[in-house]
Amino acid sequence: MNFELTTNPIKHIEADVEIIIVVDKNFEHRFIQDKALLEKAGFKGEQDETTLLIEQDRLYVGMDKLASTNMRTAIAAAIRKIQGIKSYQTVKIASYMNHEKCTAALKAMVEGAILGAYRFDRYKSEKSPQTLEQITISMEDYREFDLNIQACAEALNAAQILAEATNFTRDIVNTSPDDCYPKVMAKIAKDLAKESGLSCRILKPKDLRKEQMHTLLAVARASRHKPRVIHLSHKPKNPKMVISLIGKGLTYDSGGLSLKPADFMVTMKSDKSGGSAVLGIMKAVSEMDLPIEVHGFVGAVENMIGGDAYKPDDVLVAKNGKTIEIRNTDAEGRLVLADTLCYAQQEVKADYIFDFATLTGASVVGVGHYTSSVMGNSEETKDLVLKGAKIAGEFATKLDFNRYLKKSIKSEVADICNISNTRYGGAITAGLFLEAFIDEDHKEKWAHIDIAGPAFVEHAWGENPHGASGAGVRMMVKLLERLSKEK
Ligand code: BES
Ligand code: ZN
Ligand code: ZN
Repeated sequence: MNFELTTNPIKHIEADVEIIIVVDKNFEHRFIQDKALLEKAGFKGEQDETTLLIEQDRLYVGMDKLASTNMRTAIAAAIRKIQGIKSYQTVKIASYMNHEKCTAALKAMVEGAILGAYRFDRYKSEKSPQTLEQITISMEDYREFDLNIQACAEALNAAQILAEATNFTRDIVNTSPDDCYPKVMAKIAKDLAKESGLSCRILKPKDLRKEQMHTLLAVARASRHKPRVIHLSHKPKNPKMVISLIGKGLTYDSGGLSLKPADFMVTMKSDKSGGSAVLGIMKAVSEMDLPIEVHGFVGAVENMIGGDAYKPDDVLVAKNGKTIEIRNTDAEGRLVLADTLCYAQQEVKADYIFDFATLTGASVVGVGHYTSSVMGNSEETKDLVLKGAKIAGEFATKLDFNRYLKKSIKSEVADICNISNTRYGGAITAGLFLEAFIDEDHKEKWAHIDIAGPAFVEHAWGENPHGASGAGVRMMVKLLERLSKEK
């Protein structure tokens, strides 16, 4: 999909179809030429509501207010409606927000188009044709403001990079577990590194043993797919700060010997969403060439059953020497992350550490399907994540730690237990388990983001399709962009 920006008035632009944004519910805006027809069609102009007037080649889409979040989902809905119509190859849209913040609106528009057009048809014999070739955006309403074309072009480019990185993550997550296992994830990372100039190191089982990552190795043991730890880095000259990102890359989570019930196992190919988000973020960071050093670590493992499986009652020793009593092999993500967090902290002294994981069903129960849970020891660090999410149009909320829940992961036989002794507060107790593997000097600089809710949803919502959403990518890239601009 190709984008073009112009200050030409919309009526002078040639295109197969026009998308018209409707904010005024009385249909009074000068761009709305079909008031009577719209009323006849029962169009109310509600957020994301669309009506295609096929004879006029005009698609109307409603928006509740002129805000980026509304723009992103409205354009996604509009694009979904017209893509696949063979005669519509070129589209024109008038950018509507006549105020100085036009770059934010422009970004939301471009992100909405690319995210909305996403489809995953790898396993379909008949592929859906991508008919849309060109989207021309008219900036005529900005003329009265000294339009900074350079800033607009940069915004367009950044939005394209970000949306395409999100779609890259979605593709990895949607791929079925026997097509995307740890070795394949490592290959995706290596190919990405080659294309975008990142450095890449892959740790294989021999290296993982050398690094004393026996907890991660135990989770991986029963699978025929051997584990990998991926380390990608973006290292610009004179970086403003150093960031480490860590992702849970469970290419399949059967639950292990504490086997998941059949209904709960379906969709567990999505347990690699945290790791896949880290890969997408690294892609965006390198393509945007952000002036900060960013390291991405992924613990890529498959959690299976078999005679060789790790088991409840095992005591594992993590990379930092802590002993872990295993009482449930389905609480495996925190084990993989424990070793990967230790490795990341050994390799890089970072100003901030963020981890992404589909860690708990409890997060989905607590905050619903669309929201990520953010945990950590520092309000400032958590607020950074929340701010990034807000700009990106992702939902995120804080879950507070407390010392009473911390007691619930104590073990009678080891240093810590991999599950809590209470059935409540499971997202927080999982976060507290991870906290035990954060070094003293990183405690305030770390945040854990449980993306179990939004990472994979079995219906389309907003700019997200059925299946993988790429949760975490946009919120983190927006955060990193902000950090890049700090003095
Ligand atoms: N991958 C799951 C968490 C999950 C559940 C992600 C639903 C997305 C949707 C994780 O490994 C898991 O199984 N967690 C257990 C922990 C429990 C055994 C303490 C859970 O949430 O039930
Ligand atoms: Zn599990
Ligand atoms: Zn899991």
